[in-house]
Amino acid sequence: MEFKYITSDGGRPVERLTLNRPDVRNAFNEHVIAELTQWAAQATAEPVATRPRVVVLAGAGKMFCAGADVTWMARTITYTEEQNVRDAVAMSRMFAALNALPIPLVGRIQGAALGGGAGLAAVCDIVVADEQAVFGFTETKLGILPAVISPFALAKIGRSAARELFLTGARISAERAREIGLVHAVVPASDLDATVQQYVDELMSAGPEAVAAAKALIPKVASLTVEEAQPITTRAIAARRVSDEGQEGLKAFLEKRTPRWGSR
Ligand code: COA
Repeated sequence: MEFKYITSDGGRPVERLTLNRPDVRNAFNEHVIAELTQWAAQATAEPVATRPRVVVLAGAGKMFCAGADVTWMARTITYTEEQNVRDAVAMSRMFAALNALPIPLVGRIQGAALGGGAGLAAVCDIVVADEQAVFGFTETKLGILPAVISPFALAKIGRSAARELFLTGARISAERAREIGLVHAVVPASDLDATVQQYVDELMSAGPEAVAAAKALIPKVASLTVEEAQPITTRAIAARRVSDEGQEGLKAFLEKRTPRWGSR
């Protein structure tokens, strides 16, 4: 895969994907969106045996991501209404593709995650932030709104924090972002990589198919009653416990040994 605005180390089993426009604090425009969407489609289509088991999403330079590229946003005044909506749909599809990635996505956040950058944090499964990092849904400060990212942000921070932060556009600390569920661990910058690695190691010791199934289950059951969820949850465990991977994990526990998760 040849990309201009993102870089991948192609790592297996752990891939590091980096937003790479440090001069504009990794703000994303239509080209970054196209590349991230293409990357996500390719990663999703790859067979379980060869795709990465964990992806670490990072930002080059001082800041994780300053959100949507304001130059690009301002340029939409030259678009037709149809082009304008199509452009927003492309952005929405990028977030949706990352959100539904069948691989755990770990966000490594330094400096700032603002606007769409906070949206990227919201589509990560696990977010580790440097204690100096700032977060915020800053769009209203620019006279726009956090629209496309709202479903993903709401799923993490809930309505109460959204009502405060979407409306004020205020910048908040990493610690506050942790309190509202956007971030999972806040550490000194010098510990950022080691903490990301701890989460990666934790994920690597779990069954890859089980991890993907657990991730897929959450959005399916999140808004259902127990009764509504029952057919989904019972089929999920019934399928997984008789699968090769499930049997290997269960037997390994009983035999007091480390499970062998496929070839990697
Ligand atoms: N879109 C386009 N360019 C952006 C940008 C964005 N979202 N965020 C930063 N940049 C550009 C700046 O215009 C500046 O360009 P210049 O060197 O040509 O002047 C460059 O990136 C560096 O930005 P600067 O503000 O000088 O860097 P900093 O390290 O002091 O601060 C941020 C970084 C991210 C805290 C700050 O740039 C910021 O608050 N950006 C806006 C974030 C935001 O509200 N995003 C929501 C967008 S909808």
